[in-house]
Amino acid sequence: MKKMLITGETILTGVFGWPVKHSLSPVFQNAAFHFCNLNWVYVPFEVRPEQLKNAVESIRIFGIKGINITIPHKKEVVRYLDAADEEVRILGVANTIVNENGFLKGYTTDGTGFLHSLKEDGNFSPEKKLVFLFGAGGSAYAIAGALVKSGISGILICNRTIEKAQMLKEHLKKNFRFENAEIIPFEKRNDSKIWKNVDLIVNTTSAGMKNDDTILVKGNNLNEKVFVYDIVYNRETALILSAKQKNIRCLNGLSMLVFQGAVSFTLWTKKKAPIKEMKKALFGFIEKLQLR
Ligand code: ATR
Repeated sequence: MKKMLITGETILTGVFGWPVKHSLSPVFQNAAFHFCNLNWVYVPFEVRPEQLKNAVESIRIFGIKGINITIPHKKEVVRYLDAADEEVRILGVANTIVNENGFLKGYTTDGTGFLHSLKEDGNFSPEKKLVFLFGAGGSAYAIAGALVKSGISGILICNRTIEKAQMLKEHLKKNFRFENAEIIPFEKRNDSKIWKNVDLIVNTTSAGMKNDDTILVKGNNLNEKVFVYDIVYNRETALILSAKQKNIRCLNGLSMLVFQGAVSFTLWTKKKAPIKEMKKALFGFIEKLQLR
């Protein structure tokens, strides 16, 4: 394989976050540029919250072509942009910036990345399906919106704080005229009658990121016709483990991470992203980390 060569013409992209050293995006974005023979590079930038405004200005100053935005800047960054796509305007968060000759437009890739991953990696079409959604935070809004737009028949929303689930239900009604949302109180989530017709389970909460976390779904509520999607990507959650034990189709957040990266790649380069190469780079890197 040819080595990466930085020249006077190299086009710069990257990610603003704080902290950012854990980011996996440089691994697969650089692999994608390399594979597509693009003289582009993707670098992590540690940006403290009080420096975000200056950092966004630096995108124009340095002619950086594209930037991803991660924790804790996704909300705050919107006020510094010149334009925002419809989803950013509805959700109030952006995680990707495209620089067109100094004009900065914001996008969010959560919904599209999730949907592409579900369809392409999971081979699952959400149309006319009943979804059980855990969580009512930023990711839940993006994913619920994407699922509603792709024609699901209904959504059961379950969140530890019930008021937030109620707000998400209202959001779907107001912004998508979607009426088939029902709230499931968190403590009632394992009532077996709820689960009879569920086709897709999506966990957008951070439950499952630590070993001592709450079990979201009891094994007896998981049947072989359901598809399980857990957006947590730094470990196999209890939900993913019980799906695997029962031979139930499932995906974790690594798939979404790559497909989100692919959306950013295409927004910046206007080219189709080399998904296979991106995954190969990511999984190779993770394997090396685990061997260390
Ligand atoms: P994101 O942008 O990734 O969605 P977020 O907006 O902070 O992150 O939302 C986190 C979600 O995880 C929320 O739905 C939160 O529930 P609350 O609204 O009750 O806070 C949920 N969450 C976090 N830790 C959890 C836990 N241990 N058990 C259940 N839900 C949890």
